[in-house]
Amino acid sequence: TTPEATASSEAVRREFSPGLAGVPAARSSISFVNGETGLLEYRGIRIEELAEHSSFLETTYLLLYDRLPDQTELDRFTSDVTQHRRIKYRITDLIKCLPEQGHPMDALQAAVAALGMFYPARHVLDPQVQYWSAVRLIAKMPTIVAAYHRLRRGDEQVQPRDDLDHAGNFLYMLTETVPDPLIAKMLDTCLILHAEHTMNASTFSGMVTASTLADPYTVVSSAIGTLKGPLHGGAAQETVDMLEEIGSVDHVRPYIMQRLAAKQKLMGFGHRIYKVKDPRAIILQKLAQRLLAESWRSPLYKLAEEVERVGEELLAGKGIHANVDFYSGVLYKTMGLDEDFFTCVFAMARVSGWLAHWLEQIKDNKLFRPDQIYDGPHGRGYVPIERRP
Ligand code: ACO
Repeated sequence: TTPEATASSEAVRREFSPGLAGVPAARSSISFVNGETGLLEYRGIRIEELAEHSSFLETTYLLLYDRLPDQTELDRFTSDVTQHRRIKYRITDLIKCLPEQGHPMDALQAAVAALGMFYPARHVLDPQVQYWSAVRLIAKMPTIVAAYHRLRRGDEQVQPRDDLDHAGNFLYMLTETVPDPLIAKMLDTCLILHAEHTMNASTFSGMVTASTLADPYTVVSSAIGTLKGPLHGGAAQETVDMLEEIGSVDHVRPYIMQRLAAKQKLMGFGHRIYKVKDPRAIILQKLAQRLLAESWRSPLYKLAEEVERVGEELLAGKGIHANVDFYSGVLYKTMGLDEDFFTCVFAMARVSGWLAHWLEQIKDNKLFRPDQIYDGPHGRGYVPIERRP
């Protein structure tokens, strides 16, 4: 046996976990999930408590600084975020140049990367740089998303209003109408629920970028790119597409049976970690029930309920239940958001988690450089082009 073959068989003996499932990539005190019992905590506080009593900006503060702020700290943070919502006209011009049929996540990724050119943040260990880049990213992402939503339809961008809260202002920038406070509160709760979720794909992607000591705008734009995929943040959009394809309650069962028989997944179902129903899906379903079943009698919600009922019946035995994106899409659709923008709302929320992991990563940084198990050939030799078969 050649040394290469010996090395390669040794490599195979090392444990390989596709998708790095179950492999810890960091020590973290930001959030905790128990997928068997359906527990999710941010900094030790249960998600149910935060959803009921907190606001997105307060939860963001908790994620970033490991404690709930006192009133003065929260007022200061809220005011800083509120005052940094506007984007430079050159960012708006950049968004205007993007094709209307492009994916909004690509627009968001491009605009966030461009922000980093206006606010250089090279000294990532400087607390001032850390604070202000976090404030800018959290404040400006909703403005970018709302601007692209309007500009691609040929409407004018709506400037932020300082008297509205984070979620209310976002809905205002989308529609030019001050939203019903209940709807704004629901969106704020959706943002809390999506703000953080341990070592998921986009967070890992952001952390790999952070480990190179890249600036936070680059870290967040890496994470946005990873969140875009249909197996991660794209599921809310795919769920609504699926509901629209089903069309009516009596088509639900045959559609699901056919889909599963064709080995296709039911969108908005299943999770790598949760083997019981995602606690965020339980909270969102209650919100959706309040808003959509009672006040608006949404047919989409009725359809979603039936899909969940049949999906549970067929998949619960395999530990597959509705996930956070099953109801969030239905809520966002009812709020007037175009379907391809749902993942952008996820990003507007998850930026808090990404930034918390960025701060944790760079405090005790080690460049990510994993290994691989090479299973290709050795010593093949170069064949000149005229002698290749
Ligand atoms: N519908 C039907 N079957 C499913 C589903 C589903 N949604 N999810 C998993 N399964 C089945 C698979 O077909 C597979 O069955 P098999 O063992 O008989 O072949 C088994 O469950 C394991 O599936 P994997 O995809 O290998 O499991 P993984 O842990 O990688 O799945 C994932 C997690 C990717 C989220 C998956 O459940 C999925 O694709 N769901 C649909 C997309 C979705 O809703 N994504 C959002 C996730 S939540 C989030 O990112 C915020």
